[in-house]
Amino acid sequence: MSPPAPPTPSLPLKMALPKGRLLEPALALFRTIGIAASEPATTRKLLVPSSDGTLSFLFVKPGDVPVYVESGAADLGITGTDVLRETDADVLEPLALGFGACRLVVATPKNVAYPSLPGGVTPRVATKYPRLTRSFFAETGLGVEVITVSGSVEVAPLLGLSHWIVDLVDTGRTLRENGLVERAQILDVGAVLVVNRASQKLKLDLHQRLLARLQEASRQQSSKPQAASGS
Ligand code: PRP
Repeated sequence: MSPPAPPTPSLPLKMALPKGRLLEPALALFRTIGIAASEPATTRKLLVPSSDGTLSFLFVKPGDVPVYVESGAADLGITGTDVLRETDADVLEPLALGFGACRLVVATPKNVAYPSLPGGVTPRVATKYPRLTRSFFAETGLGVEVITVSGSVEVAPLLGLSHWIVDLVDTGRTLRENGLVERAQILDVGAVLVVNRASQKLKLDLHQRLLARLQEASRQQSSKPQAASGS
């Protein structure tokens, strides 16, 4: 029997990236500074070294990026401020990246009243963001029942699961096509770099060098004409 292969030496920084709509702009940002994943985007591998050996990319569910970074399983990551505020992770947030702009809003079917329902009925609100939703309605003094779902939130009022929803709006197409209208804005959302506190201290030089390169890349990208956003 041949001896086991030696473990792959761990690369200096592990970067958690969210699978989904932020992934391509995040990878494009890295390509701007000459860092590319060593495997094609179609790979099923979840931990992929960069071709220049600077980083390893860790591809995770968008909602999990803050947890990986807060725990130190990843040194740093890219996430949306929606997910970051929802998880309330204790991480550093040194750079807004200038992509992934959208907003978290309250929306309702056109014929459903807001901000209160007739007859004193307690509104049910479906959302992927229970913490932000509770906190918004607590601040505005409206008593609501929050129903947590994990996607396709816009269908909830159509099926009677909820009266209202709290969800992200980018182009507005999903709201429109499901007969919903925006009633209140909760949060401006965008992609940010997040960094583990301990890793930042222990690997200060690596973090500072990468941050400087990402700042420059982000500056270059934001000075380019923007393509229309879309889902
Ligand atoms: C997001 C969000 C909205 C939609 C908004 O959903 O939750 O549903 O995009 O985009 P729009 O305003 O451009 O239509 P996503 O596609 O991530 O799927 P999900 O709802 O299943 O999470």
